[in-house]
Amino acid sequence: MSHATAVLPDPVADALVAPPRHVAIIMDGNGRWAASRHLPRVAGHREGARAVKRAVSAAIRHGVKWLTIYAFSSENWRRPAVEVLDLTGLLRQYLRTEIAELAANGVRIRFIGDRDRFDTDIRQDLAQAEHATAGNTRLNLTVALSYGARAEILAAARAMCEAIGEGRLDPDTVTEQGFTRFLSTDGIPDPDLIIRTSGEQRLSNFLLWQAAYAELAFLDVLWPDFGEEHFAAAMADFSRRERRFGARPG
Ligand code: FPP
Repeated sequence: MSHATAVLPDPVADALVAPPRHVAIIMDGNGRWAASRHLPRVAGHREGARAVKRAVSAAIRHGVKWLTIYAFSSENWRRPAVEVLDLTGLLRQYLRTEIAELAANGVRIRFIGDRDRFDTDIRQDLAQAEHATAGNTRLNLTVALSYGARAEILAAARAMCEAIGEGRLDPDTVTEQGFTRFLSTDGIPDPDLIIRTSGEQRLSNFLLWQAAYAELAFLDVLWPDFGEEHFAAAMADFSRRERRFGARPG
């Protein structure tokens, strides 16, 4: 047991913790935000898309280099058809109107998840957005769409088995490091901090492999109300955590 952080004055403790390189966000509470205003759920999602812009600005302001947002889970396809249509419509609109601004702000955008389930025009826009922003380095924004971590891990395991079966891969490379190369997040550092809004305290099949050592922050704010002050509060909270990665303090 360590009392190290308890006896150190705050500024010193803060100085010991590197700021998060990668922040991931589970954006939750759009439906409740809309219901509390007697609005249709789509109004919550629309306001949620605006909150995404605030999260991107906050990440840039705090010098975070990697931001990943959970915009659509593989389970979300099971929502009523009208809501799925609203969500995919919003995505379509977002891709057509926001990418230019993201590009102008130096943001590189990537998408992870099963994009084959989206309509052709959306798939084309996703590829176009990735292509148009590929040279940017200020912030790496990854949007998880039709994403599920178990499916991602299974696909990686299958691809690795196939590569070994076909003699393209040495079985000795079946290591943690080797396995991550088959994940959709290959080349992206693991998240240091995962934020979930709306008070729910679950990972909901998000980045399960990558979250092994992530700090978790559950915020009592519905996603459409999320602002730069909530991002700042999560960053301040992170700076007070003691990260040991399973090791004993020195
Ligand atoms: C969870 O709220 C949120 C979603 C399922 C969708 C997230 C989508 C957005 C923030 C807008 C679109 C984003 C982009 C990038 C276009 P919920 O509906 O589960 O809320 P509830 O738990 O209160 O019902």
